[in-house]
Amino acid sequence: MSRLVSLLLPVLLLLVSQAIATLFPESNQSAPKAALQACNQLAVSLGSPILQTSGNSYEKAATNAWNLENGQYQPTCIVFPTTSKHVQIAMKAIYAAKSHYAVQAGSHSAMKGWNTVQDGVLIIFSNMREATYDPVKDSITLGPGVHWHDAVTALEPFGVAPVGGRVGDVGTGLLLGGGLSWLSPSQGYATDNFKELDVVLVNGDLVTATATNQFSDLFRALKGGGDRFGIVTRYELYPVHTGTKDEKNWFGGMLLAGKYQPIVIQFNSSAEALLNATARYVREIDDPKAVLLSTFSNARTGDSLAPLYLMVLFYNGVNLPEEIFGDFLSIPAMSSTLGPMSYFDVSETLGLGNDRGYVQRFGASALVGDEETYLEAFDHWMNFTQAFQGDFNITTLAFTPVPNSQIQAGRAKGGNIINAPHGGFAAVQLAEQFNAGLNRIPPQVLEGLDLLFEQIPPSPGLPLYLSECDPRQKVFESYGDYELLKQIYAKYDPEKFNVKHTQGPVGL
Ligand SMILES: Cc1cc2nc3c(=O)[nH]c(=O)nc-3n(C[C@H](O)[C@H](O)[C@H](O)COP(=O)(O)OP(=O)(O)OC[C@H]3O[C@@H](n4cnc5c(N)ncnc54)[C@H](O)[C@@H]3O)c2cc1C
Ligand SMILES: *[C@@H]1O[C@H](CO)[C@@H](O)[C@H](O)[C@H]1NC(C)=O
Ligand SMILES: *[C@@H]1O[C@H](CO)[C@@H](O)[C@H](O)[C@H]1NC(C)=O
Ligand SMILES: *[C@@H]1O[C@H](CO)[C@@H](O)[C@H](O)[C@H]1NC(C)=O
Ligand SMILES: *[C@@H]1O[C@H](CO)[C@@H](O)[C@H](O)[C@H]1NC(C)=O
Ligand SMILES: *[C@@H]1O[C@H](CO)[C@@H](O)[C@H](O)[C@H]1NC(C)=O
Repeated sequence: MSRLVSLLLPVLLLLVSQAIATLFPESNQSAPKAALQACNQLAVSLGSPILQTSGNSYEKAATNAWNLENGQYQPTCIVFPTTSKHVQIAMKAIYAAKSHYAVQAGSHSAMKGWNTVQDGVLIIFSNMREATYDPVKDSITLGPGVHWHDAVTALEPFGVAPVGGRVGDVGTGLLLGGGLSWLSPSQGYATDNFKELDVVLVNGDLVTATATNQFSDLFRALKGGGDRFGIVTRYELYPVHTGTKDEKNWFGGMLLAGKYQPIVIQFNSSAEALLNATARYVREIDDPKAVLLSTFSNARTGDSLAPLYLMVLFYNGVNLPEEIFGDFLSIPAMSSTLGPMSYFDVSETLGLGNDRGYVQRFGASALVGDEETYLEAFDHWMNFTQAFQGDFNITTLAFTPVPNSQIQAGRAKGGNIINAPHGGFAAVQLAEQFNAGLNRIPPQVLEGLDLLFEQIPPSPGLPLYLSECDPRQKVFESYGDYELLKQIYAKYDPEKFNVKHTQGPVGL
C-alpha cells in the first residue's frame, strides 16, 4: 500500500501542478519557480563557472548594463557560455521549464528589460569575444560578446573592418537591429553584411543560416528582427577593406585604400542653419563616400541645460567636397578638427561611450522632407526638453542620413527585413540621459515622450530603427517586410515562446 502511494505520489503531484499551471498559464507567480527549475538543472549540466547564481562575476554582470534601469534586475542565474553548445544546453533548459530569460551582448540596449531579466535566466556573452579575419574566405568572424572597439582594433592589422557601430563600447546586438555604421552609406546597414550565422533556436537546436540554405528565411529575419528569432552564437561577416591605421600617413597617395576627412564642430550659434543643411543633405546627397551625423544636445551645466550641437562629417577621399559639405562648413564653429584619418581613426572619433550609472531612454523617428519638417521636429523636441529640463543630464536629437546608396547596397547583398523604400531619409534618434540619482523615469516624462512621438511621426512609409526605439513604439509594423517577418516568426517560434518569455520589440 505505502509502495503504491509512493509510486503514485509523483504522478499525482505532476497532475496537480499541471492543473494549477493550466489555471494560471502565464501567472508570474510561477516565474520564479520556472527560473529556479531551469537554473537548478543548469547548475548540474553546465556547473560553475559557466553558471553563476551569486558571487563576484554574477554581481558584476548583473549590474553592468549601460542603462541603469537594466542594472537593477536580479536574474535567478547567469549563464556565461564559451561555446554554442552551452547556449543550446541553456536554451533547452529554459524552454523545458518555461522560464523567462534574456540575452546580453554589449549591454547597450536602452530598452528596459530587453537585455536582462528578473526571475529568469540571463545569458551573457562576455566570454565569447572572438574577432578574427580569414583571408582565404575573406570573411570576419565575431563572437557575440565582442565590443566594436575591440573588434576594429583586432582586425585593423589585416586592413579590414566590420560594418559595425560608431561608438566603441557598444556590442553586436546592434547588428540584429539593423546597425548604422560610418561604413553604411557604401555597405548598407551593418546587418546587410551577414554572410553566415550560427543560431540557437527557441527549442535549443543549433542551425547555420545563410542567404541560400534551408534557413534563408531565418537569415533574412535576423537582418533587422532583433532578438525574437533565436540566439546568434557566431557572426560571419563580409569585411570592408578599409586599410590599416597607418595608411593615413600616405595622405594623398593612397586614395583607394580608404582615406577619410573628419570634421567635428561644436557650436551654439545656429541650430537652424544645421537643421537646414541636414534637411538638404538628406534630400539631395547620395554619395556612398559621404558620411554625416548631426546631433543637437542640451547638456547639464549646473542648474540648467546648455545647447551643444555637433556634426560629424567624413569623406572617403582627400577632402570634404564643397558641393556636399559646403553648407556645414560655412556654419560658424566654436572648435573644429579637420585632417586626414585612417578608418581606424574614424572609428575612434566618438570614443567608447562606456559611461554607466544613468537611466537612459531612446526613441525613434525617420524623416525626409523640407527644411520646415526638420525645424518643426526641433521645436517639438525643444519644448519637450524644456518641459522636463530638471530631470535630464543630457538630451539629444540626432539625425543619421540613410542615403539611397545604403538601401541599394543592402538590396544588392540580398536585402533585409526592414526593407526601407527606395530613396534616402534620416534615421532620427531621441535620447535622454537622466540625472544621476534618478532610478526610474517619472511618469509625466513618459507621457511627454508619447506626445513627442505623435508630434514627430515618421514620414509615410519609412521604417523606425529598432536598436534606438522606445520599447512602446511599433517598430516591426513600420518595416517594409512586416508580413513576411510575422510569417517567419510563426515558423520558427510557433508557440510564441519568446514573446511570452523575453521582453523585446512588440508586434509579432
Ligand atoms: C552609446 C551608444 C552608442 C550607439 N551608437 C550606435 C551606432 O553608432 N549605430 C547604431 O546602429 N546603433 C548605435 N547604438 C544603439 C545600439 O545599436 C543598441 O543599443 C544595441 O542594442 C546595442 O547592442 P549591444 O550588444 O551593446 O546591447 P545588448 O543590450 O547586449 O543587446 C541589444 C539587444 O540585442 C539582443 N541580443 C544581443 N545579442 C544577441 C544575440 N547574440 N542573439 C540574440 N539576441 C541578442 C539583446 O537581448 C538585446 O535585446 C548606440 C547605443 C549607445 C548606448
Ligand atoms: C507580474 O505581473 C504584473 C501584473 O500583470 C506585472 O506588472 C509585472 O511586471 C509582472 N512581473 C514579472 C516579473 O513578470
Ligand atoms: C555661445 O557662443 C558665444 C560665442 O560665440 C559665447 O559667448 C556664449 O557664451 C555661448 N553660449 C553658450 C550657451 O554656450
Ligand atoms: C532655413 O530654411 C528656411 C526654409 O527654407 C529659411 O526660411 C531660413 O531662412 C533658413 N535659415 C537658415 C539659417 O539658413
Ligand atoms: C551629468 O553628466 C556629466 C558628464 O557625464 C557628469 O559628470 C555629471 O555628474 C552628470 N550630472 C548629473 C546631475 O547627472
Ligand atoms: C510642450 O510639452 C509639454 C509636456 O509634454 C506639453 O504638455 C505641451 O502640450 C507641449 N507644448 C506644445 C506646444 O507642444
